[in-house]
Amino acid sequence: MNIGIPKEVKSYEYRVGMIPSGIEYILSKKKEVRFFVERGAGLGSGFSDDSYRNAGATIVDSAEQLFKEADLIVKVKEPLSSEYGFITPKHTLFTYFHFSSSMELTQAMINSKATCIAYETVKKIDGSLPLLTPMSEVAGRLSIQQGAKYLEKAFGGKGKLLGGIPGILPAKVMIIGGGVVGTQAAKMAAGLGARVYLFEINPQRVRYLNDIFPPNIVVLYANQAEITKHLKDTDLVIGAVLIPGAKAPKVINREMLKLLEKGSVLVDVAIDQGGCFETSRPTTHLDPVYEVDGVLHYCVPNMPGAVPQTSTLGLTYNTLPYIEKIVTQGVDNALLIDKELNSGLSIQNGSILDAQVALFYRNNT
Ligand SMILES: NC(=O)c1ccc[n+]([C@@H]2O[C@H](COP(=O)([O-])OP(=O)(O)OC[C@H]3O[C@@H](n4cnc5c(N)ncnc54)[C@H](O)[C@@H]3O)[C@@H](O)[C@H]2O)c1
Repeated sequence: MNIGIPKEVKSYEYRVGMIPSGIEYILSKKKEVRFFVERGAGLGSGFSDDSYRNAGATIVDSAEQLFKEADLIVKVKEPLSSEYGFITPKHTLFTYFHFSSSMELTQAMINSKATCIAYETVKKIDGSLPLLTPMSEVAGRLSIQQGAKYLEKAFGGKGKLLGGIPGILPAKVMIIGGGVVGTQAAKMAAGLGARVYLFEINPQRVRYLNDIFPPNIVVLYANQAEITKHLKDTDLVIGAVLIPGAKAPKVINREMLKLLEKGSVLVDVAIDQGGCFETSRPTTHLDPVYEVDGVLHYCVPNMPGAVPQTSTLGLTYNTLPYIEKIVTQGVDNALLIDKELNSGLSIQNGSILDAQVALFYRNNT
């Protein structure tokens, strides 16, 4: 098997799909595997071409050459239009896809007849999402860092310190969705001294979070009435909801937005699933915020790309066991035998094999 690790092409995306020690590990399990790494692919994460060469990989000069040589492509983000033409039926792509946020991508992968295994829907028996979790941990923590920054006057915010100071009320942070992103965001915000209100729909999760959180995080059932009530004096809202594989539900509509004070900040972490605020649209690390009704919107779909030295390690340590299965058992066997890996299989040979992606496709054609 030939494995290719391309350089990411998405704006300000500095993560890489495999690190040199991962290559060494796979070669220790199966020495017939050949690795091709695109020149400069690891630089943003702190890994030089030489470190890949020393691990046993061949460096290639272009993505086109890499896709020609490799049959298994290990990436980070979904392929962009500049890469579509390189993808053929011989390829298996193991990467984040987030199909439900792009018909263009879904159609391109159907047309390519490639095998697409999506990191974000690989699921363990207990229902957890092992390849989404580490990046959600990063995005959750980062959402508060970014939110705090954009609340500053110089960045367009109302000019409020998240944690306040002695005698002065701290900022109020609303977090919608109490999964991995929401939990990490709540811990960060509470650690900085903010007043945190977390809204969650799953009653078991509400009880669990209520048990583990400190007193400055209030956990409430999520419904429109309750969220509307709290918007009036909220400074920062983090959107962290997920229905796996589906488009994110809209939890704040245009009307509700008017309740927020000017200079308040929305961070829509769920933007990679279409966004959970009606007024959200994807932005980039280069130009991350825009304003609607005086409210700043931060909607970067690849937030962990901002901190690649943390994110690449968090991601690749978790993808490696699955790459080992694909390499040692072959793609088709691994997908047959391994239920976790199989749950990531979204499109193969021109057919959609994931129910949520199929629903999204049917609703948009
Ligand atoms: N922008 C980025 O860079 C980035 C990075 C990582 C994850 N994400 C996205 O962040 C989102 C959250 O990911 P996660 O790992 O925390 O998911 P998760 O499954 O751990 O948590 C989602 C939570 O949202 C809750 N929920 C669903 N609908 C809700 C609603 N209407 N109101 C309130 N709560 C609701 C669920 O019960 C669940 O507890 C996903 O869309 C994911 O794709 C984005």
